[in-house]
Amino acid sequence: MRKPLRACLLAAGVAVAGLGCVTVSQGGAGYARSSALPAPPDPADNPTTPEKAALGKQLFFDPRLSGDGSMACQGCHYRHLGWTDGLPLSRKVGGGMNTRHTPSVYNTGYYTSWYWDGRAKTLEGQITAAWKAQIGADPVKAAAVIAAVPGYQAGFQKVFGAAPDADNIPKALAAFLRTLNSGEAPWDRHVAGDTTAVSADAVAGHELFVGKAGCAACHTPPLYSDTLFHNVGLEAGKTNPDPGRQAVTKDAKDLSAFKTPSLRSVGIAGPYFHDGSVGSLEGAVRYMASGGKADANKSGLLIDRKLSEKEIGQLVAFLNTLTSDERFTAPILP
Ligand code: HEC
Ligand code: HEC
Repeated sequence: MRKPLRACLLAAGVAVAGLGCVTVSQGGAGYARSSALPAPPDPADNPTTPEKAALGKQLFFDPRLSGDGSMACQGCHYRHLGWTDGLPLSRKVGGGMNTRHTPSVYNTGYYTSWYWDGRAKTLEGQITAAWKAQIGADPVKAAAVIAAVPGYQAGFQKVFGAAPDADNIPKALAAFLRTLNSGEAPWDRHVAGDTTAVSADAVAGHELFVGKAGCAACHTPPLYSDTLFHNVGLEAGKTNPDPGRQAVTKDAKDLSAFKTPSLRSVGIAGPYFHDGSVGSLEGAVRYMASGGKADANKSGLLIDRKLSEKEIGQLVAFLNTLTSDERFTAPILP
C-alpha cells in the first residue's frame, strides 16, 4: 500500500500539501480506493517501510510496552473512536489523570509539532514521552521485555539489524502512526466525482465551511488543519487557565492557544476540544460558529457568524462526511 502513495508523493514533488494528488491503493479482489492524502514526509533517520510500520502496529496494541504490562498505546487511542478514547480526560498508568483530552492520532504524520501545545518537535520524541508518561514505562526496561519476545527479536533484526531498544521502538511506532491517514471519506469520493457520495446538506455545509462560516481559515483542507495554534476562548473564566502554547514559546500572544486539530474523522472522535468539554459534534460546531467565549487573547478569526439552525445542521452534515472508512485490521501480537 505504501508504494503507490510514495509514487504519488514524488510525482507531486511536494511533501505535506499534496493538493489534488489522488492515489489509488489496492486491497483485496475488486477493491480499489482513492486516498486524498499522500503519505506524510518521513524524517531522514527513520524512513517508513511496510515491515517497520507492521512492527509499530504490533507495539501500539501491545500492553507489554507499558511499565506494569497493563496498558497499550491503543488503551487511549482506539481506532473505532477515530484513534481517541471517548473520554473528556483519561487516566494514565499509575493512576494520574491527564489534564488535556486525548487527541486523535489519525494523520499525525502531517503535523510539524505534537501535543495540544506543540511542545514535541519530532513524532519520535513525542512517542518516547508518551511511552514514559502515559503508560508508565522505563524505556530501557520495557525494551528488554519486548526484546525477550522471539517474534519481536526476529522482526527487529530484519528491520533495524538490532534488538528492540529505547531508540528503535519509538521509530517503529512512528512509522506505524505515519500510515494512519484518513483520506478515504465520503467527501473525498464526492471531490473525486462520485455524485452519490454525500447529501445536498453536506454540500451546503461545505459551502458554509469555506465561505460564510470562515472555518477553512484555520481548518485548511486537505488536512483540515493549518497545524498552527489559536486561542478560541475555551479557557476563559477558568480558575487555573491552561497556558497552552504559551508554556512552550513564553510569548504572551500564545496564551491559551492550542493546535488546530484536523477535522478528518471528527464525527466519531468526541468529546471535543483540548479540555474535552463539549460532548457532541453539534455542540462543538455551535461553539465555533458563534465565536466562542470572550477572551482578551482570542483569535480575531473566530467571530459570531450568525448562522441559522439549518446552517449549523448543514455544517455538521458536512463534517460527518469527513469520516474515513479505509480498511484496517488489528495486528496479531507475537
Ligand atoms: C492514558 C491515555 C493515553 C495513552 C495510553 C497514550 N496516549 Fe497518546 N495522548 C494522550 C493525551 C492526553 C495526549 C495529549 C497530551 C497533551 O497534548 O498534552 C496524547 C497525545 C498523543 C499524540 C500527539 C497527537 C498530536 O496531534 O499532537 C500522539 C502521536 C500519541 N499520543 C501517541 C501515543 C503513543 C504512541 C502511545 C503509546 C506509547 C500513547 N499515545 C499512549 C493520551 C494517551
Ligand atoms: C481561529 C482558527 C479557527 C477557526 C476560524 C475555526 N476553528 Fe475550529 N478549532 C480551532 C482550534 C485551535 C481548535 C482546538 C481548540 C482547543 O481545543 O482549544 C478547534 C477545534 C474545533 C473542533 C473540535 C475538534 C476536536 O477534535 O476536538 C471542531 C469540531 C471545530 N473546531 C470546528 C470548527 C468549525 C465548524 C468552524 C467554523 C464555524 C471552526 N472550527 C473555525 C481553530 C479554528
